[in-house]
Amino acid sequence: MERAPCLLLLLLSVLPLPRASEHAPEPCELDDEDYRCACNFSDPQPDWASGLQCLVAFEVEIRAGGRSLEEFLARADTDPQQYADVVRALRLRRLTVGAARVPARLLFAVLRALGYSRLKELTLEDLEVTGAAPPPPLEATGPALSTLRLRNVSWATGGGWLVELQQWLKPGLKVLSIAQAHSLVISCGQLRAFPALSTLDLSDNPGLGERGLTAALCPRKFPVLRDLALRNAGMETLTGVCAALAAGAVQPHRLDLSRNALRAAAHPGAAPCVWPSTLSSLSLSFAGLEQVPKGLPAKLNVLDLSCNRLNRAPRADELPQVGNLTLAGNPFLDPGAPKPHEDPLNSGVARVSAHSSLAIGMSGILALFQVVRSFA
Ligand SMILES: *[C@@H]1O[C@H](CO)[C@@H](O)[C@H](O)[C@H]1NC(C)=O
Ligand SMILES: *[C@@H]1O[C@H](CO)[C@@H](O)[C@H](O)[C@H]1NC(C)=O
Ligand SMILES: *[C@@H]1O[C@H](CO)[C@@H](O)[C@H](O)[C@H]1NC(C)=O
Repeated sequence: MERAPCLLLLLLSVLPLPRASEHAPEPCELDDEDYRCACNFSDPQPDWASGLQCLVAFEVEIRAGGRSLEEFLARADTDPQQYADVVRALRLRRLTVGAARVPARLLFAVLRALGYSRLKELTLEDLEVTGAAPPPPLEATGPALSTLRLRNVSWATGGGWLVELQQWLKPGLKVLSIAQAHSLVISCGQLRAFPALSTLDLSDNPGLGERGLTAALCPRKFPVLRDLALRNAGMETLTGVCAALAAGAVQPHRLDLSRNALRAAAHPGAAPCVWPSTLSSLSLSFAGLEQVPKGLPAKLNVLDLSCNRLNRAPRADELPQVGNLTLAGNPFLDPGAPKPHEDPLNSGVARVSAHSSLAIGMSGILALFQVVRSFA
């Protein structure tokens, strides 16, 4: 049972690996500590074998240059038992896969394979997931992730994607982040609860808005949520956000509404809303506010109003009972200062995701198994 990985490591240390071309730069780079390995398979004829060096890394990032990984689809039906030992031996804890078109069947086959690994954090970025998902597994056979991050991932199956993805993950996810989503209309009826999820980050979804938030916060699916981040998520009024939290029965302790173009006035005709009693920290920085907004919770430990457009100090009757109030970066404190917040929606939105990434791609990992098997 233990032979295959040991043999593999031995082979890796002695064998010259095949090269696509002597002069092409290596697509993968492993750092001196054998900690982080990053691959960029953007060459039209990538040297997949270069990914072998990543087998020893803790943190692997694979970007596939936007290519389609259809060619690996045949691997999706491989019996996972065949490579279970190799996957168990990986040190891999953090994996980023980016810039590829990947068939859903292949994506879920990779998740099933990673079920044997000790992977904790998975990031998917700039992916187009094509085709129908395979039938759901009888039980969750994918990895026991603590963190799952998605940025700019589109799914051919539309709004059902979170339900499909959840079916493969062992419960225990603590952090879920979904940015630049193409659809956040979740099929709440089919979604199971996230029993351990403490952080939900829906930032950088400028089209979400309060109605989208209500649709995304499936009632009673996030029972232990403590941190809710909604930066740059198209929120307009505090009353609307409050109503969405109430409808979803979430009880966050910290709520980040920074970088939304908030209106100070309540939504006309909005019913007064009771904020969750757990809420103790609220960030409203970079929100373009010219006055303290209506509808704040009555009591807070932390209220961050920094970098808004307040032209005078807030009066006590405008503010909740608050332990730590931050007002830095408002014109009334420093009238001559430049105003970096002039355009709050652009300062945080223009994230260059192409540069923020690492990655072992679907392609990479499957190619690895393929090469590994042929060596072992
Ligand atoms: C990957 O390589 C291509 C071509 O060399 C380059 O244009 C691109 O910026 C690289 N991507 C990353 C994330 O380094
Ligand atoms: C989102 O991902 C697609 C590939 O699926 C890519 O073509 C596009 O440039 C990405 N968008 C951004 C804003 O990075
Ligand atoms: C008050 O809040 C600000 C920003 O949230 C933080 O940087 C600061 O450390 C806090 N101060 C105290 C005394 O908690």
